[in-house]
Amino acid sequence: MEKSNQSSSLRAGLQPKQTPVAVIGLGQSGLPTAATLAQAGFRVTGYDIDESKVKSLNRGESYLEDVEQSDLSRLVDQGNFRAKNSFATLNGAKIIIIAVPTFITKQGTPDLKAVKAVTDDIVGFINEPKLIILESTVYPGATEEIIKQALDAAGLKLDEDYLLAYSPSRIDPGNSNWPITKIPKIVAGASKESLSAAEEFYSSFIDKVIPAGSIKAAETTKLFENSYRAVNIAFVDAMKIFCEAMDIDIWEIIDLASSKPFGFVPFYPGPGIGGECIPVVPLYLAWKAKEYGIRADFIEVASQIIDMMPTHFTNQLCGLLNKEGKTLKNSKILILGVAYKSGMSDTRKSPAKKIIRQLIETGAKVSYSDPYVPSFSSSGYQLKSSKLNAGLIKKQDAVVIVTEHPNIDYKMVADNSRLVLDTRNALPHSKKHNVHH
Ligand SMILES: NC(=O)c1ccc[n+]([C@@H]2O[C@H](COP(=O)([O-])OP(=O)(O)OC[C@H]3O[C@@H](n4cnc5c(N)ncnc54)[C@H](O)[C@@H]3O)[C@@H](O)[C@H]2O)c1
Repeated sequence: MEKSNQSSSLRAGLQPKQTPVAVIGLGQSGLPTAATLAQAGFRVTGYDIDESKVKSLNRGESYLEDVEQSDLSRLVDQGNFRAKNSFATLNGAKIIIIAVPTFITKQGTPDLKAVKAVTDDIVGFINEPKLIILESTVYPGATEEIIKQALDAAGLKLDEDYLLAYSPSRIDPGNSNWPITKIPKIVAGASKESLSAAEEFYSSFIDKVIPAGSIKAAETTKLFENSYRAVNIAFVDAMKIFCEAMDIDIWEIIDLASSKPFGFVPFYPGPGIGGECIPVVPLYLAWKAKEYGIRADFIEVASQIIDMMPTHFTNQLCGLLNKEGKTLKNSKILILGVAYKSGMSDTRKSPAKKIIRQLIETGAKVSYSDPYVPSFSSSGYQLKSSKLNAGLIKKQDAVVIVTEHPNIDYKMVADNSRLVLDTRNALPHSKKHNVHH
């Protein structure tokens, strides 16, 4: 197809309500993106290899807090969203967004097999020009190394048969202050045409679109953002350990430092980090740096500090119980919150997993309460959420607040507990002798 025809046919199809869009991977990132697009008037088909997810989404059932049940069923009823688990109809889509998961192997190398698998599938369906956008997090260079090389190898030509863009997902699950439409969107293209088509597309439903100079710049920005968070979280975790040793309240220090109107951005200590972003993404940067003979020690050290935080809190709890003449063994411990994030049901890589395992291995009698997570299992245990009330709390030797969820009466928790270890400052400035941070 002629380049000019190709561009104009894509452009002509970029108007909402006329453009069929495919979103591949209907997870934490892809499903809210698909729903946002459908709400903006695009006809969206979502693809996922998980058949049960596809079936429930087509019934209008959302499994994410970020996508309202009522919104999803309306979008399904209106015909603006449907889910599929085969690529058979992908050729109807003019724009393809890839939002599949990207992992890290045990050896610390990026595992982009889902992006590769989807690319192989897409290659077979480029029988009319398409704009392909990768939103998954990848190392610098990956979009072109994986997607462009596969399309080129199949004899398809950039700017003639396809346009290619990278736009990192910056979604913050559970944060209703920042819906997708309000989060500035970084966009980069493999060619001028690719960039302008992607800019035009995102500008039609996102308030602010920021072009990057190259795909590598956009890929690196995503790694930089997540590494910035990991390094600062590790720093404040280390400060917490230091303050604890000196009997200083780290939360007061953060409050005081936050009064500085410039040069300070607050981060908060905690029992560890979860999900597939902050624990994984900085390691992509460290891995790529090694290839250039650069040691990203700050990332390795940050990971080590963050990884030891669950053990730090288990040890702190042990010390607090010992002071009361008790041992962890045989103590009744209630974990409050097992999701990795406030207001969410997601338990991927949640620090609660490690804390509970350590407590059980030490012989503690562990239960948990989390209104978002009815059952919770990890290697060696399977637990069901208990209903939180004063009676339950009074039976415990200690309560550990691991996730601060909204609408939990933490004052009631403190009033009825013998001992509270509050890893999240859910009970700020508590002067109660039984509450420890
Ligand atoms: N979750 C977040 O907060 C977040 C934020 C920013 C960026 N990201 C990035 O977005 C990407 C996706 O992450 P996520 O959290 O949405 O993952 P997820 O695990 O929640 O969802 C991924 C979905 O893709 C599906 N899938 C896997 N392989 C597939 C394939 N070959 N074809 C079709 N579907 C497939 C899975 O079944 C799943 O439903 C990752 O690169 C991640 O780093 C995530």
